[in-house]
Amino acid sequence: MGTIDFKSELEKKAAHTNDILKELLDNQHQIDTSLKEAIEYTLYAPGKRIRAAITMWACEMIAGNVYRNAEIAAAAIEMVHTYSLVHDDLPAMDDDDLRRGQPTCHKKFDEATAILTGDALLTLAFEILAKEVDDPAIAAKLIGQLAESAGGSGMIAGQMADLAGENCQCSKEMLEYIHTNKTAKMFQCSALCGAIAARANTGQLRALWQYGLNLGLAFQVGDDILDVCGNSEQLGKTAGKDEKARKCTYPALLGIEKSKEIETELANKAVAALGIFGAKADILKQLPIALLERTK
Ligand code: IPE
Ligand code: IPE
Ligand code: MG
Ligand code: MG
Ligand code: MG
Repeated sequence: MGTIDFKSELEKKAAHTNDILKELLDNQHQIDTSLKEAIEYTLYAPGKRIRAAITMWACEMIAGNVYRNAEIAAAAIEMVHTYSLVHDDLPAMDDDDLRRGQPTCHKKFDEATAILTGDALLTLAFEILAKEVDDPAIAAKLIGQLAESAGGSGMIAGQMADLAGENCQCSKEMLEYIHTNKTAKMFQCSALCGAIAARANTGQLRALWQYGLNLGLAFQVGDDILDVCGNSEQLGKTAGKDEKARKCTYPALLGIEKSKEIETELANKAVAALGIFGAKADILKQLPIALLERTK
């Protein structure tokens, strides 16, 4: 590991994701003008595009190339992820004013527009999978995977538990449930969708399932640590919100040092899950380790 410059590889994938998102959105001619303004405001804001990069890297690792179907899936996942942030920031949920370095959607526009922007992004993700993926069998698998990961037995279940966990006596089991669902399932989805586009076999899918789970869990522990140790300017979102909302987090339950240990353990587990791919997994193996040092 380590010969490729990870940072510049991620930057390339983020830029490529932005191009695909723009191309797909520009093809939508009928969207209401004010809605489109809010969609572009949230979707083109500088997200890290980590989920999209995972999808493209997983396809590349298995098929040797980033297929167009993987690019479509990557864009769809970023749309669902962005919608989840718009709704996560609403007053009824985390009530945040800052996202991706700019006022949140409901602050810039209004609450109704933010709700509808989320609705439109979520729906558009499935529309592009249905219409742009060039093989109906692959389209159906991608749609099924994204729906399962993002829906009521996935990310939404995690968001419900996250809110129910506020002001509660938080346990390790609860935390694992919240993190697995609200965050890790979308990371698994990212890895699996790249693999589906690449027509992966069962063994490859199983390995990427394990990778996505541990990477996603590590990512949310890192997010919770940054909420305590980071600053709003660097994060592009308000720091210190979790303690104020009395969220169930690793730092709240176990402290920063122990949380950092758990994050590192999970990142190492993610790397180990890719053993079967050998050197082809180089970039995907670098990702969890690089994320341990992130400041946003
Ligand atoms: C934020 O995700 C939400 C979590 C699951 C912690 P990211 O940190 O990937 O957000 P963006 O896309 O870069 O803004
Ligand atoms: C959000 O978790 C997970 C989502 C599904 C959006 P957080 O509430 O911790 O994410 P941030 O810190 O607001 O980005
Ligand atoms: Mg939240
Ligand atoms: Mg939040
Ligand atoms: Mg957070």
